[in-house]
Amino acid sequence: MSETDVTQTETDEPTAETAAETQTTTTTGETDERVREEWTQFSFQGEPKLAVDDLDVYYGDDHALKGVSMDIPRESVTALIGPSGCGKSTFLRCLNRMNDRINAARIDGSVELDGEEIYQDGVDLVELRKRVGMVFQAPNPFPKSIRDNIAYGPRKHGELNTGLVARLLGRDDSEEEEALVERSLKQAALWDEVSDRLDDNALGLSGGQQQRLCIARCLAVDPDVILMDEPASALDPVATSKIEDLIEDLAEDYTVVVVTHSMQQAARISDQTAVFLTGGELVEYDDTEKIFENPESQRVEDYITGKFG
Ligand SMILES: Nc1ncnc2c1ncn2[C@@H]1O[C@H](COP(=O)(O)OP(=O)(O)O)[C@@H](O)[C@H]1O
Ligand SMILES: [Mg+2]
Repeated sequence: MSETDVTQTETDEPTAETAAETQTTTTTGETDERVREEWTQFSFQGEPKLAVDDLDVYYGDDHALKGVSMDIPRESVTALIGPSGCGKSTFLRCLNRMNDRINAARIDGSVELDGEEIYQDGVDLVELRKRVGMVFQAPNPFPKSIRDNIAYGPRKHGELNTGLVARLLGRDDSEEEEALVERSLKQAALWDEVSDRLDDNALGLSGGQQQRLCIARCLAVDPDVILMDEPASALDPVATSKIEDLIEDLAEDYTVVVVTHSMQQAARISDQTAVFLTGGELVEYDDTEKIFENPESQRVEDYITGKFG
């Protein structure tokens, strides 16, 4: 493990002034540092795709996310990094209201998608999760054919009708389905590997292929945003590098938000990086280069140079 390639820097010593203002040392020797608002105010051109404002999440009495505000730019890759348990998955799940499914979870604050509040009454959660799709850590294809995995979402949403009943009613969309399956698999860089066996069970694919299939399945319902929670952490290096290339390509057309525990991966694939630290705080959010080369926060610097986490 060499993290030095992305973290070495000559200019990241805090100035005496900021050090005095923001740091003291606790009895355990950890830096005790107050987060400064300007460290998390990443500014960019254009309207944010997602605007998160003062978001708190509680699981029962456990305060898992604390007052997180963060604007996410469109058509780019935003990486979320930080040690285990700091709330990265919790934050990601807030972006398409997946936390609604967790009974113990209580969410306060605001998340706007294209300027529209997603935490308001009357939001259609099926529609929301179509626009904001999700890919998980372990590939989870359905135990169905490759084709059926892709067509599942569009069929469920009534966008494709195939099969006997549809044919009898004269509205068979088999051709559209073929085209959609091909397009989605091509977008996920999987087509060349599976085009001759679309009717094979998806569970027969390798782990890396399964994960690209899950990405294709997500793309098939035509999302704007793709959330990925450590999408390559169960994969070997070759499969990982294919997923990384794919993520970079997807950012041409989609807003990608990716949780990763690999700092090298964040440095390689993301445009901006948000660092969450213990206690569910967003500590710093900026251009990826800035975060890795010259972070403002001492704790972020300690984290990316491997002093903890
Ligand atoms: N479904 C859940 N029920 C109760 N507590 C949870 C649940 N999911 C996460 N937590 C707690 O919330 C905190 C943040 O977890 P998580 O978002 O999974 O962190 P990360 O993804 O950064 O590892 C942890 O203390 C974790 O134990
Ligand atoms: Mg997680």
